[in-house]
Amino acid sequence: MGVTTADGGSDPTQPGAARIARMAELRTAHTAELSPRGLQAIRVLLDDAFVGEFTEDDHEHALGGMHVLAWEGRELIGHGSVVMRRLLHGGRALRTGYVEGVAVRVDRRRRGHGADLMHALERVIRGAYELGALSATGEAAHFYAARGWRAWTGTVSVIAPGGLERTEADEGGVYVLPVSAALTPHGDLACDWRSGDVW
Ligand SMILES: CC(C)(COP(=O)(O)OP(=O)(O)OC[C@H]1O[C@@H](n2cnc3c(N)ncnc32)[C@H](O)[C@@H]1OP(=O)(O)O)[C@@H](O)C(=O)NCCC(=O)NCCS
Repeated sequence: MGVTTADGGSDPTQPGAARIARMAELRTAHTAELSPRGLQAIRVLLDDAFVGEFTEDDHEHALGGMHVLAWEGRELIGHGSVVMRRLLHGGRALRTGYVEGVAVRVDRRRRGHGADLMHALERVIRGAYELGALSATGEAAHFYAARGWRAWTGTVSVIAPGGLERTEADEGGVYVLPVSAALTPHGDLACDWRSGDVW
């Protein structure tokens, strides 16, 4: 797999660079750099991957940050993005790289593309944020845990317009990738407000 960085250079230090046999090319780009065709391809991929459960809000949540796209020629076969959110924990608003829209086309799964996408997203998180976080589907929980993401063992909440609200339904499904933030494992982690699924 060839790995192209945002500035168009290749990064031979990434493990994906050696995986030519997968015949996909990873590209990293900010939302602002994506063409209408690229944005549409992401939407189609995510609609298919989440089998009709991918909402307009879900789509919007994946925008405004860095995308990693896996292309096979003109076909998009994988995507993930990292957007900045503030997570309140221990009295601090942590600069958090929040992972959204991770999916591999169904006929390309279990070939390591998901791992390559995550490797690139984690590189962005480690380079720019104090903490990584995401909300895992049941299917993907093991995938993230195997990569060193930890299920958050404390409570989770949202800073809603009316104040802090606990989001019990999300407990167990929020995963974090510690970078530099000091975390209290059984404490509360509160996300900033947004429409749709807050986590
Ligand atoms: C989760 C998802 C992104 C993983 O993508 P993927 O490309 O299949 O991921 P990988 O191939 O890197 O790894 C997945 C598994 O396949 C295994 N695998 C990798 N290459 C393999 C190969 N050549 N043969 C068999 N298995 C392989 C990996 O070891 C891993 O196993 P594990 O589940 O036991 O850890 C994909 O399943 C998906 O799109 N799911 C639907 C959308 C979704 O739920 N997204 C997550 C939102 S939070």
